[in-house]
Amino acid sequence: MKLSSLLLSSLLVIPSVTAFPFEPIKVLQLGEDEIISVKESDKWSLLRRGIKFIDITKYHNKEAKLSLPFLNKKPSETVVPVYEYPTNVTHSKLVNSITSQIDKGSMHENLSKLTSFFTRYYKSETGFQSAQWLSTKINEIMSKLPEDKYSIEHIDHKDWKQFSIIVRIHGSETPESIVVMGSHQDSINLLLPSILPAPGADDNGSGTVTNLEALRLYVEHYLSEGNAPLNTIEFHFYSAEEGGLLGSLDVFTQYAALEKKVVAMLQQDMTGYVMDPEDEHVGVITDYTTPGLTDFIKLIIDSYLAIPYVETTCGYACSDHGSATKNGFPASFVIEGEFKKTNKYIHSTMDTLDRLSFNHMAEHVKIVVGSIIELGDWKFTTHV
Ligand code: BES
Ligand code: ZN
Repeated sequence: MKLSSLLLSSLLVIPSVTAFPFEPIKVLQLGEDEIISVKESDKWSLLRRGIKFIDITKYHNKEAKLSLPFLNKKPSETVVPVYEYPTNVTHSKLVNSITSQIDKGSMHENLSKLTSFFTRYYKSETGFQSAQWLSTKINEIMSKLPEDKYSIEHIDHKDWKQFSIIVRIHGSETPESIVVMGSHQDSINLLLPSILPAPGADDNGSGTVTNLEALRLYVEHYLSEGNAPLNTIEFHFYSAEEGGLLGSLDVFTQYAALEKKVVAMLQQDMTGYVMDPEDEHVGVITDYTTPGLTDFIKLIIDSYLAIPYVETTCGYACSDHGSATKNGFPASFVIEGEFKKTNKYIHSTMDTLDRLSFNHMAEHVKIVVGSIIELGDWKFTTHV
C-alpha cells in the first residue's frame, strides 16, 4: 500500500482543527512519483507527520499555462545539462580580501530585524511586511551601483501576498549565462501557521542574511574594481518555500519557459546552527543536486573556509534547489551541518537568534562570495 493511501485514510478520520468548509484543494507531489489531492489545511498535518511534498497545484491541471518538465518524470529522468566548472580556484587573494570584510554586526542587525516580524508566513500580513523590509534593505545595498548595471524584480505570486525578490547584476559579455544564489525569506510555525509566531531565525533568516551580506560585499568589490562580471549574477529571495517550494517553482518554471540558461544555482537554507562546536562543519547535500556543480562547491569550501564539509542527504527535495533541478537547471545546497545534526527547533517559536553562531554564518558567506567570484567570469561550456 502506498504511503499516500495510508495517509489519506488517516486524514479522513482525523478532522483538522484548521479545516474550513470550502477550502481549496491542493495537488501535491510526494516523493518520486506519487501525486495526491488534499485540503489546504491538511498540508500542514502532513508536514507535522514528516510527510514531505512539493505543491504543484498551479501546474497540474490541463489548462495550466506553464508545465513542469518534471511532472511526469522521476528526478533521475530529469535532464540537467552538464556544464564544466573550475577544478581549481584562481582568485584566492581577491576572495580572501573580500571575505576579511564580513561584517557580523550587520548580519546580527539584519537577523534581529527579520526575526522581529511576528511571522514571515507567506500568507500573513507580517510576511508581506517582512518582504517589504527586505526589499528596502536590498535597494539600499544596490543603489550604490550605477542604475544600468543591475535590476531588481518583485515576483507577484497572485495567490498570496509575500513577493519573491530577484536581484540581477548584469553580465557584460555573456549575460545569458546566469549564476543564481538562492535563499527563502519565509518562515512557518507548523502547529498553526496563521496564528502562532514563527521567528524563523535559522529557517531561514540565517540564509537570507548570509546572502544579503555576500551581496553587500560583492557590490563593494564591484564599486572598487569598476568591472562588471562577464556572466549575470542573480540573488533570489524566495517567498513560500515552506508551502511546498511554491515561490521558487514559480521562478524556475518561468525561467524554463523563457529558455533561460541558469548555469549554477546555490541554495542557502539554515546556515547558523552548530550542534557540536568541537566538530564544526558544513553539510554538502548530495541528493536532488547536480554532481559536477557540487564538486565545484566542495572545492570552494576546501579553498576558502576554516571548517571542513561532510556529505549528507535530505532524502527529498527539501529546499528551493529542488525547484531548479526539477526544471532542468544545475543546483547545489550547503546546509549548516550533517542532516542529523541540524537545528531541531525549526518551524516553532523556539527557532530563535540566540541559538545561532554568526561565525558559522560567516563561513557560509565565504561559500557564496567564493562561488560568485570564481564563476562570475567563468566561460561556461557543456560537457560532450
Ligand atoms: N530548511 C528546511 C529544510 C531542512 C530542514 C533541511 C531540516 C535540512 C534539515 C525547509 O525550509 C523546509 O522546511 N522544507 C520542508 C519541505 C518543503 C518542500 C515544504 C521540510 O523539510 O519539511
Ligand atoms: Zn522550513
